[in-house]
Amino acid sequence: MHNVVISGTGLYTPANSISNDELVASFNAYVAQFNAENAAAIARGEVEALTESSSAFIERASGIKSRFVVDKDGILDPQRMAPRIPERSNEQWGILCEMAIGAAQEALARAGRTAADIDGVIVACSNLQRAYPAVAIEVQAALGIQGFGFDMNVACSSATFGLQAAANSVQLGQARAILMVNPEICTGHLNFRDRDSHFIFGDACTAVIVERADLATSKHQFDIVGSKLLTQFSNNIRNNFGFLNRAAEEGIGAPDKLFVQEGRKVFKEVCPMVAELIAAHLQEHQLNVGDVKRFWLHQANLNMNLLIARKLLGRDAEPHEAPVILDSYANTSSAGSVIALHKHQDDLPSGALGVLSSFGAGYSIGSVILRKR
Ligand SMILES: CC(C)(COP(=O)(O)OP(=O)(O)OC[C@H]1O[C@@H](n2cnc3c(N)ncnc32)[C@H](O)[C@@H]1OP(=O)(O)O)[C@@H](O)C(=O)NCCC(=O)NCCS
Repeated sequence: MHNVVISGTGLYTPANSISNDELVASFNAYVAQFNAENAAAIARGEVEALTESSSAFIERASGIKSRFVVDKDGILDPQRMAPRIPERSNEQWGILCEMAIGAAQEALARAGRTAADIDGVIVACSNLQRAYPAVAIEVQAALGIQGFGFDMNVACSSATFGLQAAANSVQLGQARAILMVNPEICTGHLNFRDRDSHFIFGDACTAVIVERADLATSKHQFDIVGSKLLTQFSNNIRNNFGFLNRAAEEGIGAPDKLFVQEGRKVFKEVCPMVAELIAAHLQEHQLNVGDVKRFWLHQANLNMNLLIARKLLGRDAEPHEAPVILDSYANTSSAGSVIALHKHQDDLPSGALGVLSSFGAGYSIGSVILRKR
């Protein structure tokens, strides 16, 4: 059994950003148009009038101020309210692959590695562009990596579950190093006409090099002390899009073929589960919560993160103890906690302990304990 490290992380951020005010202006234009078009039916009580969204609510309820997106114009067009991402020929690299290449190149550079040092690729994310071939195999080809590749989906927890899969492969000697990437185009599955959730998501891609400790040479290493995963079935975050939709024409285009959630229930049920899992994980390794210098938490909602940190620490976390990136990225699903890790690691001294944690649909929760080398 080999010891395993994270030897490099990388991030791809789309060029466009949408502020809350821009998003709300588009949503409210849609509301005004809907209510005008349905004025008679609304007056007769046959159709319910839509209610406007508000930037102040969004920031207060979620902590989100803006989000990066692969296509701004399509999302903000009140007649469309969805990103416009033109189809590409099979001879071109797909958009998920392109994002993965961007993040992977930075992770490889920080790890001091090239494609020749990597033996496998895991693409772990919430929404895959197609059924097959696996996007991971496309990324492998694009970067010139030998070995194997596969895709996996555990929604917002895809990255922590992907890290465990990568660490297992390296530990068992099946690979010297694995590239684990999280290309997330969350705006592709977000219902921008839904007032309760239209502000939640953004797009980004993260990459992590997981490597054998005795081979690693980078200056940015973290020992993977351990990982602990938990799943518990829930319908409170769900998306029914899938290949069987065409076998039930009556459901095509219905709102449940995009992201749907019971946000309040998610908040109430998931926060205690996450705090308990992290506390139990630390205890299994004879570590105290007080020993942890940094929590890189899933970035869905600021209030959730504040509550989880408070449950763990018994006090409010200092900003540097649980860094926030969701204010400018929103929820980027599996990429979120890795963005926090990527942006907030270089100041940690050697020996510092950190916990990377994800939570989301499934429910699925992951905790990965890291120690700075
Ligand atoms: C989604 C979330 C931000 C909503 O916040 P919330 O405080 O629970 O808000 P609620 O849905 O209960 O709505 C509270 C009020 O705000 C209103 N509201 C909802 N959306 C609004 C919007 N866009 N603009 C203005 N007001 C809005 C509601 O109508 C409600 O009004 P009422 O009190 O008069 O009925 C929050 O529940 C959350 O983050 N949950 C966890 C989400 C999560 O992590 N999901 C994981 C995804 S992977």
